[in-house]
Amino acid sequence: MNLTRNAIVHNLNKSNLSQLINIHKDNVGDLLCLLEACSSQSLKNVVNITDFLFLTYHDNAKVRYQIVKLIGREKTTTYYNLLANIAQNDKSSLVRREAVSSIGRMKDDKTIPFLVNMLKDADPNIVCQAIRGLLVFKNNDYVIDELKKLINHENETIRLTIKKEFFSDNKHNPTNFNHIYIDDRLKNVTINGDVIEVLKYIPNDTIHLTFTSPPYYNARDYSIYTSYEAYLEFLKTVFFETLRVTKEGRFLIVNTSPVIVPRISRAHSSKRYPIPFDLNHILTEMGWDFIDDIIWLKPEYSVKNRVGGFQQHRKPLGYKPNAVTEYLMVYRKHTDKLLDWNIHQYPHETVNDSLVVGNFETSNVWQICPKSDKVHSAIFPPELCQRIIKYYSYVGDLVFDPFGGSGTCGRVARSLNRFSLMTELNSDYFDYIKLLDKKEGKIFNQIENKYYTIKDFKKIML
Ligand SMILES: C[S@@+](CC[C@H](N)C(=O)[O-])C[C@H]1O[C@@H](n2cnc3c(N)ncnc32)[C@H](O)[C@@H]1O
Repeated sequence: MNLTRNAIVHNLNKSNLSQLINIHKDNVGDLLCLLEACSSQSLKNVVNITDFLFLTYHDNAKVRYQIVKLIGREKTTTYYNLLANIAQNDKSSLVRREAVSSIGRMKDDKTIPFLVNMLKDADPNIVCQAIRGLLVFKNNDYVIDELKKLINHENETIRLTIKKEFFSDNKHNPTNFNHIYIDDRLKNVTINGDVIEVLKYIPNDTIHLTFTSPPYYNARDYSIYTSYEAYLEFLKTVFFETLRVTKEGRFLIVNTSPVIVPRISRAHSSKRYPIPFDLNHILTEMGWDFIDDIIWLKPEYSVKNRVGGFQQHRKPLGYKPNAVTEYLMVYRKHTDKLLDWNIHQYPHETVNDSLVVGNFETSNVWQICPKSDKVHSAIFPPELCQRIIKYYSYVGDLVFDPFGGSGTCGRVARSLNRFSLMTELNSDYFDYIKLLDKKEGKIFNQIENKYYTIKDFKKIML
């Protein structure tokens, strides 16, 4: 017999439930269906938990998990010993975790020694669940002392939870800063200079969103570094400073892709550098939390043909696929606060004005045609900037692009009623930004675009 959840919910009563469980005890699919249905609120009074207890020995972990969940729902200490035994001895981490959670839900002082003991478990999921159960007893000094001992736990989630609960550093917590405030001197500003120099004059907690495409390592004429290490070191400095100037809990999206450095001669191999992967480690180490990887997918005709040789010879090992993707790596400045905290900083009106209405991209693969340009060889397609800016900032925010190029990010930001801040090292590109900006329509809040040399910018900021 195939049971459906709805049929069960409608037809179950106290007398037929234990009968049904016995009939289906060897058919895992039906049994799970029954147990899941039993967790429905409307069947709360129909379920007599003692009918199920023998299933805590069932071979199937999913069945054991469901029964433990049902026992936990009772929130009674009656089953404490049974659950404690499961929490310590079951083979499945999921079942053990549910048992610890069920004990936590009892919120009874009697469970404290057991939960404290579970803090020593080798499975971090169990420890997390025990922490959760113990946090209910925040007025118990013994519990607090035991929890604080986990501050150096080898598991990062455990360390972070304990840090947030007991060691949050309020001294550096900029909650007093006005999250939506922007210094007028930085609104719609483009500076011709080295971003590392410019960043020195930008105060802490200034930027709402950074979206950028850094120079590619030795792949284009504007990006010559002495070594790959020097290149990564340069990016490290830029994004470390960007972290400082970013407001609490706000986002950085970096567009990169692996690059190939051509071979010296036919006797040598070319080398491919995995920039997004190497950079990821650097960023997360310094305090950017990794959030998402979005793939920018381009049509195959628009990229360099690398597969031609293989097309001819078809010899394994010589396969080189056409690279049709770039990465948009999404990071958030580390904070203990949830995204809701950021959102609540804005007045209701701003939230409404910023809503992403109509169609939006639902997957992390974004199919967008690249854009070519007669002056700059690597510009953002405006559509890419539009999506990023709409999804990751609010109207009136300050959007930063440290590697402005032709200024696409800034122009799109302004067209979406955000303010822009950009730096661009190359004076030809800087002039090009000015030229393209002249063709722009209305400017948000009537704040004119301003263009500074680094010298002028310093004067303004000091
Ligand atoms: C990939 S391009 C960015 C293109 C840009 N997204 C656009 O839509 O036009 C990188 C830019 O970074 C600039 N750049 C390189 N090093 C820089 C530095 N130290 N400071 C500021 N800009 C720099 C380059 O001149 C280049 O225009």
